Amino acid sequence: MRTLSRLLSATFWSMGSRARFADSLHAQFGALLDFQFAQLAPIPVLPKDVCERLGSYDVTIPPSRWFAPGNQDLTGLIYLVSIAKQIDARSIFEIGTYNGVTALTLAMNLPNTVVHTLDLAPDDNPELPVDDGDRSNFCFRSVARVFEAREESCRIVQHFGDSAKFDFSPFRKQIDVVYVDGAHTFDYVRNDSAVAFDMASEKSAIVWDDYGRRTPGVPRYLDSSVNGNIFRIPRSRLVARFSPGSVPCVFGGEGAERCITGRDGPPAIAGEANVGKLLRRG
Ligand SMILES: C[S@@+](CC[C@H](N)C(=O)[O-])C[C@H]1O[C@@H](n2cnc3c(N)ncnc32)[C@H](O)[C@@H]1O
Repeated sequence: MRTLSRLLSATFWSMGSRARFADSLHAQFGALLDFQFAQLAPIPVLPKDVCERLGSYDVTIPPSRWFAPGNQDLTGLIYLVSIAKQIDARSIFEIGTYNGVTALTLAMNLPNTVVHTLDLAPDDNPELPVDDGDRSNFCFRSVARVFEAREESCRIVQHFGDSAKFDFSPFRKQIDVVYVDGAHTFDYVRNDSAVAFDMASEKSAIVWDDYGRRTPGVPRYLDSSVNGNIFRIPRSRLVARFSPGSVPCVFGGEGAERCITGRDGPPAIAGEANVGKLLRRG
């Protein structure tokens, strides 16, 4: 009996070890693929001195118990706030509210800024294709957003609708930071990016989340369709595109020397590939 019990526990232990080993192998393989993705990505990384300039701001983060799997991570939140501070953003538009943590973080750290945030209404059906990952993020549509009981909510405007149909025209050229984080299929990224370029003010930044291999619609769109002043934010999934008017304050005095300004207008649609044209001097 004792032998049998030893045999059983050894078997279970080895099953547990095997499962842990498989998990760790899977994680390491994933990290390798992420590394390979980063190595091959045609969008350059934001220069170190610019990161250091952005890294000089204090940033307040909401309580961690509010964070959920689909939220922006801490590095991303810190950079988003810092970019908004650096260009002295007075208006922000987020596509994809989720539970509201990012909208709240922006409002907490930018006391003179109005944060607009758009999400599907509970009964909205997206008009363009979405994938399983997108569907898994629909879970907060009928739940109160974390900012609702906060004093900052007077500067957060919640809009409801499908970004493929929403009327963005009141915001044309009015928004200093557009944060694109709705659905991640190519069709939605293309739609939301066109909208973002349309809303962007003269001195603005457009920031996309989820530039990574797990959400191929985002890199597929950005790599082929947006050029000029576009950079990956280190240690995050963010990509930021700075308007020519915002380049001097983000890149310092010689900013214009270090950025090649591509087309300044709505991004091209698929087919007009600009991969390889994204050049930086020096
Ligand atoms: C990844 S979550 C956003 C996370 C949030 N921006 C953050 O930083 O924590 C994506 C959100 O986009 C919303 N969404 C997806 N498709 C949309 C669409 N077509 N129009 C508006 N919102 C959409 C989802 O309901 C979900 O809340």
